[in-house]
Amino acid sequence: MTTSIAELKSQLDQIREAALRDIEQAATAEAAQDIHQKYMGKKGAISQILRQLGQLDAKDRPILGAAANEVKAAVVQALQQRQGQVGAAELNQQLEQERLDITLPGEKINAGRLHPLTQVAREIRDIFISMGFEVARGPDIETDFHNFTALNIPPHHPARDMHDTFYLPGQMLLRTHTSPVQIRTMLNQQPPVAIIAPGAVYRVDADVTHSPMFHQIEGLLVSEYISFGDLKGTLEALIHRFFGPEIPLRFRPSFFPFTEPSAEVDMGCPFCKTQGCRICSQSGYIEVMGCGMVHPNVLKNVNYDPEKYCGYAFGLGIERFAMIKYQINDIRLFYDNDIRFLQQF
Ligand code: FA5
Repeated sequence: MTTSIAELKSQLDQIREAALRDIEQAATAEAAQDIHQKYMGKKGAISQILRQLGQLDAKDRPILGAAANEVKAAVVQALQQRQGQVGAAELNQQLEQERLDITLPGEKINAGRLHPLTQVAREIRDIFISMGFEVARGPDIETDFHNFTALNIPPHHPARDMHDTFYLPGQMLLRTHTSPVQIRTMLNQQPPVAIIAPGAVYRVDADVTHSPMFHQIEGLLVSEYISFGDLKGTLEALIHRFFGPEIPLRFRPSFFPFTEPSAEVDMGCPFCKTQGCRICSQSGYIEVMGCGMVHPNVLKNVNYDPEKYCGYAFGLGIERFAMIKYQINDIRLFYDNDIRFLQQF
């Protein structure tokens, strides 16, 4: 069976019309791709016409070939144009859906912050570091020797009564103060020694200003020719820098087995300027720490020559400093983990 060129040309015209109609209706890039396949693919409508080329007279073949190419070109051009339109529309639609509203409020990131006791401890630490002290640390679980005996508190000494604590097997206990770090440091190094030792300590003690676990910072300076005047100057520098200048200090005679002489340090109440108020119980002064000159027996216990070396030591409560600075009247607030309290610092 032969096919006339006229017939094939007419088929080509129909194909062009159908293709252009399809193209006009294509709504997506995918649909346009399908149309390309439908008309120009290997099994596409135009290819099928061309496959019949062989049945034509030789003279008619180039004519039909040219006509088919013309249809192809027209279809390709229309397709490209449509693809451009459809692509732009699709992109616009996508942008519309993904539009960012930059006026929406941001999501709040809740940043954490340091616990007030950590802040206070670091502030005190930095003051001492600026004066040339180094930071030393010791274990919370101590030996009886470091916590008591080496500090001139032998077994059955009445000073142990005020330092009742949690005892563990093997002469071990939860340290009752940071003073054992004095012993550990001196056993490990020769004078001069200038350290502070921050850390947690434990006692059988509980009321609104005393906690069974609290924090101290120990201070120790041992060298030659150290006087009580050096101790007073150092503690004055601390109080003036931490609580403010011109706060008076009072050194009240006291007793610690590991210092001689010993003193309690009272600072002028920063709220009433020593006039007397609720915070200082109308006394004008607040007790802030214990201190003294290192006892010769302690120096002997760590094999330092007490004829040659002398020094001072002090121990302060971090909670006490924080409570005075921020007017906090219940020590338990530090450990409650109440976000409303912690957020204020
Ligand atoms: C001592 O612990 C001595 N080691 C201090 C010392 C060191 C004296 C070196 C001389 C030389 P004291 O028991 O007073 O001393 O405690 C020191 C500070 O710790 C007190 O002034 C107080 O601020 C704080 N403190 C004592 N017990 C508690 C407690 N249970 N809760 C919170 N703070 C406390």
